[in-house]
Amino acid sequence: MASSAIKPQHIAIIMDGNGRWAARRGLPRTAGHQAGQKALRRTIEAVHQQHIQYLTVFAFSSENWQRPAGEVNKLMDLLKKGLQKHIPELHKNNVRVRFIGRRDQFSGSLCKLLSNAEQLTAANQALNFNVALDYGGQWDICQAVEQLRHHPQPITPQLLQQHLCLSDQPLPDLLIRTGGEQRMSNFLLWQLAYAELIFSATLWPDFDSTDITAAVQEFARRERRFGTVNEQVAASIQVASA
Ligand code: IPE
Ligand code: IPE
Ligand code: MG
Repeated sequence: MASSAIKPQHIAIIMDGNGRWAARRGLPRTAGHQAGQKALRRTIEAVHQQHIQYLTVFAFSSENWQRPAGEVNKLMDLLKKGLQKHIPELHKNNVRVRFIGRRDQFSGSLCKLLSNAEQLTAANQALNFNVALDYGGQWDICQAVEQLRHHPQPITPQLLQQHLCLSDQPLPDLLIRTGGEQRMSNFLLWQLAYAELIFSATLWPDFDSTDITAAVQEFARRERRFGTVNEQVAASIQVASA
């Protein structure tokens, strides 16, 4: 049974498939990452048009440092150029930008761009756009545990969650992974505990507003039970719409 046409509040995306997109065209992998930035720009616009308030994208994982140095350097370069080019536009469109993940392995100039973008856009309200950079879900849980190392009370899920990245935002309720793989690759392991999962064969550089619309429609067809049974969900929908 389909639930009522409820929209996701917070979409998380694993933007995968740039390298294969480039390889199919006989282009270097970097060309795929460049095309991927354009897809991201379209996606931000499409998410905003769907009146969704929160978007979190996986741009560089803790494990991506293991790629060949040439590709990592190009990715860092593209990231810097992308920030310089797109942050003013995002700010103009009232988008709040935040970065989650470690910063200690990034260059000073990149760190400065990240914190400048966060400061510039801090008061914006149209869309909360989070970019996961040098992010790993396992790292996130460890840093939350570290913060609680001397906590006097027992550690509960609610308490731990308050110390994870994005703790001031609603949990992502929809995860989209492009590129055909069906795995989490160490993304928001805790935060996605009850997210609906959509795996798309579309390579990230080909992703566009029709894919966002389709994902939002698919989300509305899912019945989110959170461990309860079908009848309880139906009853809660009736109460909510009374
Ligand atoms: C995702 O695309 C971008 C990053 C992980 C930085 P990939 O570069 O992983 O593309 P494929 O999976 O090799 O096609
Ligand atoms: C996940 O993609 C990370 C990002 C999209 C940034 P990967 O391409 O790194 O994932 P694996 O290696 O296929 O699991
Ligand atoms: Mg990949």
